[in-house]
Order: sequence, then structure tokens, then C-alpha cells
Amino acid sequence: MKYKGVIFDLDGVICFTDELHYLAWKALADRLNIYFDREINQRMRGVSRMDSLNILLEKSDVEYSEVQKEAFAAEKNAIYADSLRKMSEKDVSDDVRQTLKTLREKGVKIALGSSSKNAQAILERIGLEEMFDAVSDGNGLEKFKPDPEVFLKAAEKLGLEPKDCLVVEDAVAGIDAGVAGGFATAGIGPAAGYDKAGYKIEKVSDILKISDL
Ligand code: BG6
Ligand code: MG
Repeated sequence: MKYKGVIFDLDGVICFTDELHYLAWKALADRLNIYFDREINQRMRGVSRMDSLNILLEKSDVEYSEVQKEAFAAEKNAIYADSLRKMSEKDVSDDVRQTLKTLREKGVKIALGSSSKNAQAILERIGLEEMFDAVSDGNGLEKFKPDPEVFLKAAEKLGLEPKDCLVVEDAVAGIDAGVAGGFATAGIGPAAGYDKAGYKIEKVSDILKISDL
């Protein structure tokens, strides 16, 4: 078997919380009267909450203090966390659910590798907390994607070498993190068009077609 483990990003790969992130940042930007659109939001994919806020504030004329920035990040997270309360098992596609099941049946280890501090709560909401052999998330991370730390921790928790794992990502920053860590990478959605993505996939189950997986 070519890969012994698969490390999945969460937001935009396992479920569509990427849209909820966008809506929460948009609400904050509107309140602060800062221009924000989906194109700017693309740069926030995969990157940490504070890095995302700094991208949003590039269009602001006002210079905010660190204390104010912390408050804005908390405000956005409260809006985002509130929108997560509507999520349920229905927010995972059959394609994703069946792929995770097939990988388990094949004996391939599966991990989550997400920058999000809300990852555990989301997994519980969508009923997948038992499905992953390991969870590596934004809590306790020193460096965020494009740094490979989150994926290296995931591989370590699986007891596997990076070269034996495939990283599945929708973010350019996530593909960069995977490459930097020595992982094989598969890009989906916006990352499918990124030249550094090792494989380009349309849906998660396409990874099952990668020879020998
Ligand atoms: C990533 C998202 O998964 O998590 C980013 O792609 C987000 O958009 C990051 O900023 C941090 O998430 P959270 O839930 O900790 O604010
Ligand atoms: Mg993502």
C-alpha cells in the first residue's frame, strides 16, 4: 500500500465550515466598515484566526492595538461558534463518510490536521469524533500552516513517517505545509488548481483512485 495514513484538513474538506468562517468574518468586517469579499477570504483558507484577522485589517484605515485585535478575533469566533450550533451529521457528505469508512476497512490510518481551535467541537457536531485515529488541531500549536507543525503532530500521533502519509487540503497554505513537512499532498477545491498539489482531486473519494492507496 502506497500510503499508510491519510491526514485530512477539516474546514473545506471534511465539511463546509469554510463558508461559515467567511460569513463570520464578513459580519465583523461590515460592523467595522472594512471592505471584505470572497476573494480576500480565499487568502484566509487554512491560516490561523489571528493571521486571518490581520488579512481582514489590511483594508482598514485604522491602526488597532493588540488588545483590540484580540477582542475582534473573539467577536468573530463568537459569531462563528454560534453558526456551528446548527451543524449536524447531515453536514457531512456521503462521499466523505464513505471514503473514511473505506480507508478504515483497508487498514489505512486516518487523522485530522486542522488549524482550527473549534475542530473537536465540529467533529462532535457532525458525528465523526470516533472516526479519526488521531486529531491534531489548532490548540497548542506554535506555528500554523504553511508551517508543517500541525501535520507533523498528526503523523506522530498515528505513529507514521510523513512520507507514508497523504495530506488532503483545500488551502494553498495547507498544501505548502504538507510539502514542507515531506508529505504527499492532494488538493481539492481552490487547492486543486495549485501547482504544488501532488494530486488534484474533485471529491474526497478520488483519493481512493490514487494507485495503491
Ligand atoms: C482553518 C480555516 O481550518 O482554521 C481558517 O481554514 C481558520 O479559515 C482557521 O482561520 C482557524 O480556525 P478557528 O476555528 O480556530 O478560528
Ligand atoms: Mg481548509
